Amino acid sequence: MQGAIATGWGIAVPDKVLTNADLSARLDTTDEWITERTGIKERHIGGTTSGLAIEAGREALRRAGREASEIDLLVLATTTPDAIVPGTSATVQNGLGIAGGAMDLNAACSGFVYALVAAHGFILAGARRVLVIGAETLSRITDWDDRRLAVIVGDGAGALVLEATDGPGELLAWDLGADGSLRNLLYCEHGGYLFMDGKEIFRKAVRAVVESSLATLERAGLKPDDVDLFVPHQANARIISAAAARLGIPEDRCVVTIDRYGNTSSASIPLALADALDSGRLTAGSTVLMSGFGGGMTWASAVLRWGG
Ligand code: COA
Repeated sequence: MQGAIATGWGIAVPDKVLTNADLSARLDTTDEWITERTGIKERHIGGTTSGLAIEAGREALRRAGREASEIDLLVLATTTPDAIVPGTSATVQNGLGIAGGAMDLNAACSGFVYALVAAHGFILAGARRVLVIGAETLSRITDWDDRRLAVIVGDGAGALVLEATDGPGELLAWDLGADGSLRNLLYCEHGGYLFMDGKEIFRKAVRAVVESSLATLERAGLKPDDVDLFVPHQANARIISAAAARLGIPEDRCVVTIDRYGNTSSASIPLALADALDSGRLTAGSTVLMSGFGGGMTWASAVLRWGG
């Protein structure tokens, strides 16, 4: 059976760092409130979605020891495309010199896991190498006078190279979901700013992450106790703690990077994944559970045995 394994990863964040102190200097907020309510201390702001995606993609290709000309398909998860037309993935294709196709995927903050599962499907359908990127510039659709959102968002990108393998692949099970009746919880109309019903999203997010994670683990014949590393979407440190506690996954098995990056939507899981790989917390053979949720409302989970 042909499966897929990740062979390289990379990230990119803008140089500009915005601290809680910077925000409290211009908004009615404090470092204490932001830290206690969200877990965020600073975030990177700036750049373009395509620019960050190209930088992260280049790094992932370098780590995988691959040329862009060897990539059959780019799947770019983003909810903040550079333009409505063309797809941002085409700009990234050109920037990297990818020989194959390129497509955007918008599932809001669940986008990276959706893209990862889709990429595995393309490999089963015959693609040899797929570059998966989550890239966002949420700062461009944020009203910087709205303290509820300004303190949360960040910009960045993370990328993975997936390659076909003859052995068992790394994807053990997945769960993708959507409920468009909840669109009003989190949206941004053309030309407008993000709107978020924070309290309701918080409640729904914890439930979505727990139920979707459990469904995924069950499909893989696993229990939460089998998870070596939990890499959740980074929207709020309290959401991560609440979900991990309900799943029974100890905090030392959770990857939390929200303190440094804020909520970077579809870039948050690959940024956290790269952090775990760079620090040696995620190694070959580890069982890693990823779970995201976001506007739509959408949710997505995947459990992988790293390295296949
Ligand atoms: N600084 C200081 N005070 C703030 C503030 C800020 N940045 N933002 C809101 N407040 C105030 C509110 O006005 C409110 O004041 P009031 O009680 O006088 O009305 C108070 O703090 C509590 O606000 P509330 O919205 O109830 O806070 P909260 O504990 O729910 O935290 C979020 C707000 C946004 C951090 C939290 O709801 C959250 O993270 N939700 C999920 C968001 C999410 O996951 N989004 C992404 C989906 S992918």
